[in-house]
Amino acid sequence: MIDELLRRIAEFHRSRPAVPEYPMVTEVLDALDTARSPTLLEPRGLPVLRHLDAVKLSGDPAIDDVLDEFLSLAPALPWIQTAGYRGVLSQEFHDNYGYVQLVGPKSIVEHRSVRVGIAVWGPNLHYPSHHHEAEELYHVLAGEPCFGTDGVRRTAKPGDAVHHAPWQPHQQDFGAAPTVLLYCWTGAVVADAALVGAD
Ligand SMILES: [Fe+2]
Repeated sequence: MIDELLRRIAEFHRSRPAVPEYPMVTEVLDALDTARSPTLLEPRGLPVLRHLDAVKLSGDPAIDDVLDEFLSLAPALPWIQTAGYRGVLSQEFHDNYGYVQLVGPKSIVEHRSVRVGIAVWGPNLHYPSHHHEAEELYHVLAGEPCFGTDGVRRTAKPGDAVHHAPWQPHQQDFGAAPTVLLYCWTGAVVADAALVGAD
């Protein structure tokens, strides 16, 4: 059911000029190329889905191929939120974010050392500083999120890559349009992200 989406994500990674900078992509591509989707998925919706109608295509075919497929599948997918954020981050935050973990531990396609997913945040949301043991590579698919890492703030646009080393704290301020991020984790991927200072 998500085989075509996984194939388009792999194509997207292969289309990026920045790929050689991030050796982790090789492991991600191995996982994507060998992943096989279950035939049936149980949908689980979240309030953040109401923002999907406002997601803008980028004009970059490699991005838009992923976005098109993701947006058409979205209502049928199992949307989740980070369990450790419940009761910690605000109700407003929870009403405006969610993600679909395509590959990873306890995900649509089981994998022990790679996570791949797509996450959505509504307009003008602030995601406080958080970290995780896994190495991370984000690609912006839609929106203009501002990433804050090591005291440096940088606004990213569709197609931009943002890399985080293990345990490197990062925070985001999302722009006026909904943000869609493709994320990949490698290494210690079992543990979820945690807010800095909360673990
Ligand atoms: Fe992260």
